[in-house]
Amino acid sequence: MKFFLDTADVAEIEALAASGLVDGVTTNPSLVHKAGRNFLEVVKEICAIVPGPVSAEVVATDYEGMLREAAVVRAIAPNVCVKLPLTLDGLRACRTLTADGAMVNVTLCFSAPQALLAAKAGATFVSPFVGRHDDAGFDGMALIEDIRLIYDNYEFATEILVASVRHPVHVLAAAKIGADVATMPPAVLRQLAGHPLTEKGLAAFLADWAKTGQTIG
Ligand code: E4P
Repeated sequence: MKFFLDTADVAEIEALAASGLVDGVTTNPSLVHKAGRNFLEVVKEICAIVPGPVSAEVVATDYEGMLREAAVVRAIAPNVCVKLPLTLDGLRACRTLTADGAMVNVTLCFSAPQALLAAKAGATFVSPFVGRHDDAGFDGMALIEDIRLIYDNYEFATEILVASVRHPVHVLAAAKIGADVATMPPAVLRQLAGHPLTEKGLAAFLADWAKTGQTIG
């Protein structure tokens, strides 16, 4: 399972990429706004830190506009993945761009039929938003199960990129279902590594070690 960071915060990406656990990055217009940075500059910096796919989202809503903006973001670096909304124009642009060799992440997916269309359009990734799905009173992980089943039925190559992840339980559930990728805020990746018993056990080991008066090396 691949882990992507869902942020446009370059310092956070640099810090966590050093762990070797970061396989890619996803950004969106809201995350760019939060970072307070120039979009093209920040994507360029992220692409230099993380060799894996870096999703950069277009904001045009028509097919021609999406292709124009996609050409701009694709020129930034070879690991840019063009992020397109799950609309008919977005799906059409997805087909055109993937036929031209681009990586495409079809985003804002909230139903299994939408995910089926993304796969038929040749998407590299589809991004179902589990957290927002839960917030609206639906079961985000049931959506991931449905998409997994459908993609396996037809051997679609599109990867399921679980998005709008809010906590480690989302990541665990996505892994049990067999989702290909989870994109998560930096705080969630840190939470995955932590456990109170790990901290307690480490503190006890270190305290006992200090009593031995020894050093290693
Ligand atoms: C990912 O590609 C999405 O942009 C992101 O996961 C959305 O998350 P949110 O629902 O927490 O804004």
